[in-house]
Amino acid sequence: MKKNEARSRIQQLVETINYHNYLYHTLDRPEISDREFDAMFSELQELERQFPDLQQPDSPSLRVGGEVLNSFEKVNHRTAMLSLQNTYNEEDILNFDEKIRRQLHLNQGAIEFYCTPKFDGVAIELIYQKGLLTQALTRGDGYVGENVYQNVRTIRSVPLRLRIKQPPDYLEVRGEILMLKEDFARLNLQQEENGEVPFANPRNAAAGTLRQLDSRIVAERPLHFFCYSPGWCEEGQYSTYSGFEHFIAEAGFPTTVTPKKSSYEKLRADIEQKKINPFSPPLSTVCRGPEEVIAYYNFIHSVRKALPFEIDGVVVKVNSFPLQQELGFVARSPRWAFAGKFEPEQAETLVNDIVVQVGRTGALTPVAILKPVSVGGVTVSNATLHNQDEIDRKDVRIGDSVIVHRAGDVIPEVVRVIENKRPKNSKPFKIPHKCPECKSETILVEGEAVRRCTNPLCSAVLKESLKHFISRNAMNIEKLGDRLIDILFENGLVKTFSDLYTIDKEQILSLERQGEKSASNIINSIEKSKHTSLARFIYALGIRFVGEQTAKSLAKHFKTLDAFLDASTEEFLAIDDIGPRVTESLENTIHNKSFQKEIAQLLKNGVTIATPTKTSTKNNTLNGQTFVITGSFSLPREEIKTLIEDHGGKSSSSVSKNTDYVLAGEAAGSKLEKAQTLNVKILDWEQFQKLLK
Ligand code: IVH
Repeated sequence: MKKNEARSRIQQLVETINYHNYLYHTLDRPEISDREFDAMFSELQELERQFPDLQQPDSPSLRVGGEVLNSFEKVNHRTAMLSLQNTYNEEDILNFDEKIRRQLHLNQGAIEFYCTPKFDGVAIELIYQKGLLTQALTRGDGYVGENVYQNVRTIRSVPLRLRIKQPPDYLEVRGEILMLKEDFARLNLQQEENGEVPFANPRNAAAGTLRQLDSRIVAERPLHFFCYSPGWCEEGQYSTYSGFEHFIAEAGFPTTVTPKKSSYEKLRADIEQKKINPFSPPLSTVCRGPEEVIAYYNFIHSVRKALPFEIDGVVVKVNSFPLQQELGFVARSPRWAFAGKFEPEQAETLVNDIVVQVGRTGALTPVAILKPVSVGGVTVSNATLHNQDEIDRKDVRIGDSVIVHRAGDVIPEVVRVIENKRPKNSKPFKIPHKCPECKSETILVEGEAVRRCTNPLCSAVLKESLKHFISRNAMNIEKLGDRLIDILFENGLVKTFSDLYTIDKEQILSLERQGEKSASNIINSIEKSKHTSLARFIYALGIRFVGEQTAKSLAKHFKTLDAFLDASTEEFLAIDDIGPRVTESLENTIHNKSFQKEIAQLLKNGVTIATPTKTSTKNNTLNGQTFVITGSFSLPREEIKTLIEDHGGKSSSSVSKNTDYVLAGEAAGSKLEKAQTLNVKILDWEQFQKLLK
């Protein structure tokens, strides 16, 4: 392609991709399939490779991350990033209203307040020059922040260019960067899988991610942005907060502005049924007078748990900018705004014991066994203490009274010890240096916080590996639970993965409390699991650092088990998301003699691995129909998508009126519900296969 031609094609691709990116990540209303999007993206990357000087400053290819920095540049804020006065109850809210009315000499009429949830994330200031994102500053000490632009531009919902025809020369907006609860839970699973310490809550995960010097890591973590205020601006630039929020939504930013005032009851139902756009949820509103503010505060409090992200209160601002100017500041907070905070969901209980569990990577994890207590409506009876450093930092001891909370509303954690309730003769807790399961020596690898048992035949490691092997996203042996694995192992019936495929019905019947029916079910589900995909198989093997995503990349690259087992270092390293650490672990594993023997035995015992769908099956039976896939299937989702596209259909990630079918697998969730409410046709796997024929 000639350079001139390339220039205009690049421009066209950048605009189109940015537009679809906005539809997907801000409006939650995609119009094209992932495959169409990926095709455009690859075309752009290829053109930019050929003509590097034609890369545009708002190119979506910049979002994948770039060079590794040594440190972040310090930058002064044009106006300080201040904090808010806190209020905790209705009385405080009434007092706030009274105080500002006095200051403004207002006797009559209600003051308008702009009310928003208070996001529990990390504050950020974005600077746009001539419509282009040029800087992203953290709050820092309020006066000087750090420029984390490289990291922030990877966040898909942050516009790289304003969606305004004639953008201002200079624009500052402020907002919060956060991680959705769901994404946080997934990230922590992955952290544990990689033998790394999980994050305590979504805010820490977001903050830790933003401080990464390698923006490629940031690009892989799902962060979101909500805009909530202007930064520095010309006097008179905006007249009201609500006006500002509408302007900023038009300019392409995710906000929480509510387009039309709908009743709280309707909104509550939508939130609970997950029918709101999680990337721009309609949660902000204008309230007249303190009573309406109190109603808003109570409403947001009542839906707090159902929201897809964490909040710790509401923020209430005087809606009129001229009135704000008149009210001014006191110390480091504005007089025209306050945070209505919610009490954190915490509870006090006793540490009855501290036990040390051994995971499948041999990691020793201390767990506090608690006197059961209800935290935000869920009974908590144990809490992870992560590692020795964490125990030392919090000084948690057996017999202590502690405050517990649920990080990210999921994982129970000890927040702190109530020291004055500590029993007299308690001792600091030390994780034993011998493995509590097999009594072998454990090691603390330099740079790691976690102690590990290195005995590959440690019974805990073997049992946990078997539990991983049978789990839903691995071999998916549904009817064999963790409990049964323990029993089979302890009875000497199953020691390795391949042993699972040699047990028969009689052996299961010989175990305690096993009847005819459940024994048949177990045997059937073991049989069913024999036919699997390469991605599942690799994942099931439990190779260190090889999580689900990595297993999928490996399967996609190698296609057959033999090719995977014969791979060289260079081949591993050439795969996009595989680095030296994963490669080293893969090599150690595939060259290990007992591993090779085990694989051979698995195949001998009947495990077969499906070859990826052949493209020769392409036809047009689905003829442009749009599918949304939800829930889990025995085939990886990528393969199902390919299947749909190879038959002329499209796949999309969210359900709308334009969706023709929802393909629902096991444990289908909100998308299925949405399909039901929108009357979209729902298919199970069998019905879907019929459709293909
Ligand atoms: S407005 C003068 N709105 O809360 C400050 N702040 O204590 C005006 N925050 O560091 C801030 N959600 O990071 C505002 N909807 C929201 C917010 C919000 C969270 C954070 C913000 C700031 C802190 C202020």
